Amino acid sequence: RVTSTVRIVEVGPRDGLQNERSIVPAAVKVDFINQLSRTGLKCIEVTSFVSPKWVPQMGDNAEVFQAIEKVPGISYPVLVPNVKGLESAMKVGVKEIAVFTSASEGFSQKNTNGSIQQVINRTKDVINVAKDHSIKIRGYISCVVGCPYDGYVKPSAVAKLCETLLSLGCYEISLGDTIGVGTTNLMKDMLKAVLVVAPSDKLGIHCHDTYGQALVNVCTALESGITVVDSAVSGLGGCPYAKGASGNVATEDLVYMLQGLGVRTDVDLNSLIEVGQFISKTINKPTNSKVNSALFKN
Ligand code: HMG
Ligand code: MG
Repeated sequence: RVTSTVRIVEVGPRDGLQNERSIVPAAVKVDFINQLSRTGLKCIEVTSFVSPKWVPQMGDNAEVFQAIEKVPGISYPVLVPNVKGLESAMKVGVKEIAVFTSASEGFSQKNTNGSIQQVINRTKDVINVAKDHSIKIRGYISCVVGCPYDGYVKPSAVAKLCETLLSLGCYEISLGDTIGVGTTNLMKDMLKAVLVVAPSDKLGIHCHDTYGQALVNVCTALESGITVVDSAVSGLGGCPYAKGASGNVATEDLVYMLQGLGVRTDVDLNSLIEVGQFISKTINKPTNSKVNSALFKN
């Protein structure tokens, strides 16, 4: 038995498009996000306010955030690495941010140019300013089971970081299998350790599908009591600083699986398939969603 409802966090516009070789024009991103807003999704991660020197694909963050329709009842978080990014986000009216950290030192250095502790310190500054402005804060932990630089990651390292981020004021922690190496047993061990320090309603799962394990790993998380799942329409996604990482679990595949389990998502699968087709065609890539390939009728 699993939960009766799942909240999906759509990360395609951010996790997906940050990893595209060519920069998708801002107007296309806006159209994409507006289409996602009409599928029933309740949370859409729009962009990131990171350094454009590091991730040029997100350099149009302010323009995109300002231009999208903000549908009441839908949250539009953005990724923020430091106070500079937060200030830029606040200028355009961002109401929710996601801070991001890594359970492994190697990825922390490569992705955010600092040790785990340095990034926690930076994150503390971000959280303090965000709290002063009543901005909601979600937290990410990357490399929860494996790191592209350090290999296996201990569950205790994830649990420790999770406890820290919650105590700083994150309302929820998204546990990221950044390079998709997780298997059922690795996931179970990691979740067991994390659930000692955090209740399941403070956790989400974020699975990349590099090894084809993402849906299975999501299922394992649901069986552990987690009810929030990150996904990207068309299976977009990856991280420029996690070589070889492929896309997130596809939102279409996730919704199909949840429907089969009798879990309510409020997301309309047909609309999602249309948006998946739109973005795949626009970036000139075949969809990574098996459900989209199976159900799309030309
Ligand atoms: P740094 O180089 O140490 O930063 O990078 P710095 O403070 O020394 O600044 C360097 C330059 O960047 C300066 O410009 C700053 O102004 C500028 P200069 O003076 O040389 O002209 N800068 C900025 N500009 C705009 N907005 C900002 C900003 N910050 C600095 N916010 C930093 C440190 C953290 C900024 C950098 O490493 C960075 O931006 N990293 C982000 C990398 C990234 O976005 N990775 C992908 C997202 S994480 C992910 O995908 C994983 C996830 O999906 C979960 C999972 O799958 O596991 C979330
Ligand atoms: Mg990711």
